[in-house]
Amino acid sequence: MTICFATNNTNKVKEIQALLGSSVNLLGLADIGCAEELAEDQDTLEGNSLQKASYVFEKYHVACFADDTGLEVEALAGAPGVYSARYAGPQRNAGDNMNLVLKNLMGKDNRKAQFRTVITLVTAQGIHPFEGVLKGSITDNKKGTQGFGYDPIFLPNGFNQTLAELDLAEKNKISHRALALQKLVLFLKQHE
Ligand code: IMP
Repeated sequence: MTICFATNNTNKVKEIQALLGSSVNLLGLADIGCAEELAEDQDTLEGNSLQKASYVFEKYHVACFADDTGLEVEALAGAPGVYSARYAGPQRNAGDNMNLVLKNLMGKDNRKAQFRTVITLVTAQGIHPFEGVLKGSITDNKKGTQGFGYDPIFLPNGFNQTLAELDLAEKNKISHRALALQKLVLFLKQHE
């Protein structure tokens, strides 16, 4: 079975290929000759991941999955959510984004938040969404230097270190992305 992961990150492709085993031949966008920037202009994570995967499926005739992730802060009505990458503006700067979350939470007691990843698989058999959620809270200050995005201000429930203070292996055990991916891998193994 050949499946495309709608990404240009070859490391991600290799990592997931290793999880899937040899019954799946996983290809990245470059492998299928797709050099386009895929549109993701929907207003939900579900919509964006479906938009990317179905575009590739329809144009390149290969089963495809795509992901989209957002930080959802309860006291901010789920923001930044689907706009996480560019919350503070089109410069897509992680420091600016975190500062804006901290500013918007100033004086608020409820600091509950979650990361949510949606992976949508589109095949000739249909559309299959998979969700991974990591619950936690927003710290008062940035802590840690590892990871990316909002990691320095996100404290996973049950931990006393932010995601940016955990090493990658520890983050991968609990992360929203890893959870969604595990569900996808299980599905593919059951349907190979
Ligand atoms: P994407 O859908 O994976 O491109 O993620 C969209 C945005 O969400 C990123 O630009 C980051 O700001 C944020 N984000 C996604 N995953 C993570 C994570 O694991 N840690 C911190 N921030 C993340």
